[in-house]
Amino acid sequence: MTNTVPDARQTPNGATAPLLDAVRVSKHYGAHQVLTDVSLQVASGEVVCIIGPSGAGKSTFLRCINRLEVPDAGEVWVDGQPMGFEERGGRLHELNEARLSKQRASTGMVFQHFNLFPHLTVLANVTEGPVHVQKRKPKLVEAEALQILERVGLGDKIDSYPSQLSGGQRQRVAIARAVAMKPLFMLFDEPTSALDPELVGEVLTVMADLAADGMTMLVVTHEMGFAREVADRVVFMADGGIVEQGTVDEVLVHPREARTQRFLERVLK
Ligand SMILES: Nc1ncnc2c1ncn2[C@@H]1O[C@H](COP(=O)(O)OP(=O)(O)OP(=O)(O)O)[C@@H](O)[C@H]1O
Ligand SMILES: [Mg+2]
Repeated sequence: MTNTVPDARQTPNGATAPLLDAVRVSKHYGAHQVLTDVSLQVASGEVVCIIGPSGAGKSTFLRCINRLEVPDAGEVWVDGQPMGFEERGGRLHELNEARLSKQRASTGMVFQHFNLFPHLTVLANVTEGPVHVQKRKPKLVEAEALQILERVGLGDKIDSYPSQLSGGQRQRVAIARAVAMKPLFMLFDEPTSALDPELVGEVLTVMADLAADGMTMLVVTHEMGFAREVADRVVFMADGGIVEQGTVDEVLVHPREARTQRFLERVLK
């Protein structure tokens, strides 16, 4: 069962549309129903952490949100626009790949593995999307990229190549690259789970800094400490659905569902 979550940022009559509105998203692979009717709203400035066991469908849900996967059913609205479609003449038309890429850039995604371009410098990795996908002015983009790289602590690495960086540094480049696209919100899929333990902190610090700066974030994570400190809301997913959601206190400290309690006992041990 799903708790209803009042959101202080929305007007009392609920007139403010959420920045992200996923409505009854379903997805199957072959005979395997991976997501069933998953609905989630995220308000502007909110940080929502998704937790749950392996195979719950967390990554698939994020990929359905930015349409790296096409959902079988359901809709995803970003800032009032339908993901993957545009309205023309009162009808919805599916976007072609180029326009979809552009729209996807508004939902900056950071993955478990860094997906940097190995043949490009740190600076070029960050400017590539804004210049080539968004067709923004290279000079302006470069100035912004330098600022962003400074902010994630990589001001002295702009000419390095990914192979010359530590895992934590690479992941901070990946975050800088997503931020450079000026996304409306960011999706993080276990951004620290491939890192050596001593490198996790520097990446979480950058994420917490972005959150404090007002970035809207949907974060799949196993880092319960991060969720506790940064999340406005925690969502527990299992078996392709949302089992419960609420504040840190409601979900991580006083979970109502047995499934959540069992999961937390396991991960907090
Ligand atoms: N492209 C695919 N083809 C077939 N099955 C897939 C595909 N992607 C995911 N699945 C299956 O869907 C289920 C959910 O996968 P998903 O990666 O979304 O889970 P998850 O909650 O992110 O797990 P984890 O915590 O291990 O990352 C799994 O059983 C997985 O094997
Ligand atoms: Mg996953």
